[in-house]
Amino acid sequence: MTRRRLIAGNWKMFGNRAALAELTPIAAAAAAAPGVDVAVAVPFTLIAPAAELVPTLPIGAEDIHEAESGAHTGCVSASMVREAGARFSIVGHSERRADQGETSHDAWAKAAAGHRAGLSIILCCGETEAEHNAGRAERVVQAQIEKSVPDNADASWFTLAYEPRWAIGTGRIPTFDQIASMHAIARAKLRMMIGDRAADVRILYGGSVTGENAAAILACDDVDGALVGGASLTAAKFVPIIEAAA
Ligand code: G3P
Repeated sequence: MTRRRLIAGNWKMFGNRAALAELTPIAAAAAAAPGVDVAVAVPFTLIAPAAELVPTLPIGAEDIHEAESGAHTGCVSASMVREAGARFSIVGHSERRADQGETSHDAWAKAAAGHRAGLSIILCCGETEAEHNAGRAERVVQAQIEKSVPDNADASWFTLAYEPRWAIGTGRIPTFDQIASMHAIARAKLRMMIGDRAADVRILYGGSVTGENAAAILACDDVDGALVGGASLTAAKFVPIIEAAA
C-alpha cells in the first residue's frame, strides 16, 4: 500500500482574477514534484479561469450542493462546478458547519453527489476547541466520520481531512503526537466502515500548516498530506509546503 502525498489549497473567500497569477508558479512547483499531488480549491467565480490558466493543476470547488439541480437560490451543483473545470470539491468544511449550520449528514450527501458527478472529494472533520478541551475530540471525529463517509468511499475519489477547528487560522497546531493519534483514530474508524479500502485512503491534516511546520506535520504517522488555507493564497507561502512534501 502506497499513498501519494496530497497538498491541497483552500482559498476560502479570498481571491479575484488578479490572484490567479499565483497559480502559475504553484503549477510549476507541482510539476517539479512529481511524487506529490497538488490541488487548489478556489471560489466558484475563479474555477473556470483557473482551470483554463493551469490545466495541469487540479482545480476544485470549496463546496457543492447535494442536489443535481433545483430551486436552491445561490447554490451550485457538482455537475455545474465540473462543467466549469473543477476536478474535485471540498465538503463538510468546519466553516460551513459553523456558518451555514451544515451537518455530517449534509457532508455525506454532498460527497455522494460529487462522486456521482465525477468529482473527487475532500471531506473534512474535526473537533471544536471546547470539544478538544473536554477530551471529546476522538468521539466527535469518529461520529463525524460515521455520519459523513459514503459506504462506497475509496481512494480513487475520496480523501479525508482532519482539521481541528481551533487550529484553523490561529497559528496553533496540535502536538505531533496528537496529530498522529487523531489520524490513527480516523483511519481505524474508516476501516470499520469501508474495510481494507481504508488503507489506501489519504488522510490530510489541516489547520495552520506553513512552510515552517509542514515537514514535521507530514512526518507524523498516517498523515498523507495537508489541506492548507491561508498559506495557499500565495506561491511564496504554498510552494515551500509542496517542497516539504516532495
Ligand atoms: O481548509 C483549510 C483550512 O481550514 C486551514 O486553514 O488558514 O489554518 O491553513 P489555515
